[in-house]
Amino acid sequence: MQNNNIWSHRWTFILAAVGSAVGLGNLWKFPYITGEYGGGAFVLVYLVTIALIGVPVFMAESLLGRKSRKSPVDGVTKLAKENGATPLWGGVGIMGAFTGVLILSFYSVIAGWAIHYFIRFATGALVGIDADAAGAELGNLFASPVNLTIYHTLFMAATMFIIGLGVHKGLERGVNVLLPLLFVMLIVVAIYAGINGDFGAAASFLFSFELSKLSLEGWLAALGHAFFTLSLGMGSIFVYGSYMSSESSLAKTAVTVAVLDTVVALIAGLAIFSLIFGNGLEASQGPGLLFVSLPLAFAEMPGSAFFGAFFMALVLFAALSSSISILEPIVAFFVSKGVNRVLTTLVVGLFVWLVGMLTVFSFNVLAGFTPIGEWTMFDIFDKLTSNVTLPLGGVLLSLFAAWVLTKETLVAQIPNDTVRMIWIALARFVAPLGVTFVMLKALSVPMLWALVAAVAFVALVSVVQVKAGAARQA
Ligand code: TRP
Repeated sequence: MQNNNIWSHRWTFILAAVGSAVGLGNLWKFPYITGEYGGGAFVLVYLVTIALIGVPVFMAESLLGRKSRKSPVDGVTKLAKENGATPLWGGVGIMGAFTGVLILSFYSVIAGWAIHYFIRFATGALVGIDADAAGAELGNLFASPVNLTIYHTLFMAATMFIIGLGVHKGLERGVNVLLPLLFVMLIVVAIYAGINGDFGAAASFLFSFELSKLSLEGWLAALGHAFFTLSLGMGSIFVYGSYMSSESSLAKTAVTVAVLDTVVALIAGLAIFSLIFGNGLEASQGPGLLFVSLPLAFAEMPGSAFFGAFFMALVLFAALSSSISILEPIVAFFVSKGVNRVLTTLVVGLFVWLVGMLTVFSFNVLAGFTPIGEWTMFDIFDKLTSNVTLPLGGVLLSLFAAWVLTKETLVAQIPNDTVRMIWIALARFVAPLGVTFVMLKALSVPMLWALVAAVAFVALVSVVQVKAGAARQA
């Protein structure tokens, strides 16, 4: 008998998880923050974090999802009760839901930029463009809140449409074809960029590991990005894990996803920095980096209008297969409370859309509004989530899985003795201590307050949620 709540094939979980992981984080965010924090040392910290913290946290999240077969909030609460721990743990899921709202709000705006470039490529407007014109193109886009809003609206609508239907339909088939295609196209673009740009400069920028060059903030950003790029800490992997078959290996899956995700980020980085250095552009120019360099990649390519538009379509697809994984855990929570799926999607989606307007305005009318240091609202949402709530959520989930669950559960979930021992060591000690260490070292004063507020928030909503649960049972 076919169970409707399990992915149809073992590969599908891997593909769905890769679909969630590979997205704007790899193509847009990784290159631009690597540029901001100076290259190699940042990349090194990021790679080490992926291996020692990202993979075990990924295993913890998918394990918890698969064991509970529920959405993050209910799943953690249920497992806590079964294991005699306080149901306050459910607060981690609620923090994840709020984190998801913030991430999706700006994610959608950035994905909107890709819609703009898709249209501009397709209409041939970017053929033969030079570096100055590419900069002006982006400047004009940023200066128009109306256009940014339209694109943001389109992308949110697409995300909501898929989530309203239910993740399985559409996603499974789409991921099978389009992800491998993105991979191939990315390699073509990288080769082209390497030939036309300065590949040597790009490679030495990304792989000259001088740790002394990295600022404290860079350490934190690299750690935070490891969580962001693997979709960890807010429930995406938890929810997808809850649809995962009981036979597949958690460790193999986690390593496969981490390797594919990292390879995509590194290829994108090599391509983009070849173009940036080859054209004498600024590596640290910020969030516009991808969108300034891509038109240059295609400028001289034969059939550039077609290939440029095609590539942007693949970027959009990668973004969409990630954005749905951000919305799904939030929607799954309300659905589990008996609210209609379509209605939930509409209400949550509208709320996310509204919050997203603050990011739209961060690039124009509110560019000067920097309530914390030099950070616009977009910067605040980005840093608060990547540098604070994602690592916090991820570590709490990993502590929960490795300390609270019984030995029998862990043996059933990770049958191989050696693998389980390594995982327990990483999940119990290495991940929490690593994150604590970097946070204590690098968290700035406003972010420290954000951390305190996030912990207080988790505690508060947990209490409310437990009270509500008790009231319902009475
Ligand atoms: N990992 C995705 C990317 O790199 C974005 C993403 C999806 C995400 N789900 C998430 C980030 C959950 C943090 C948490 O584009």
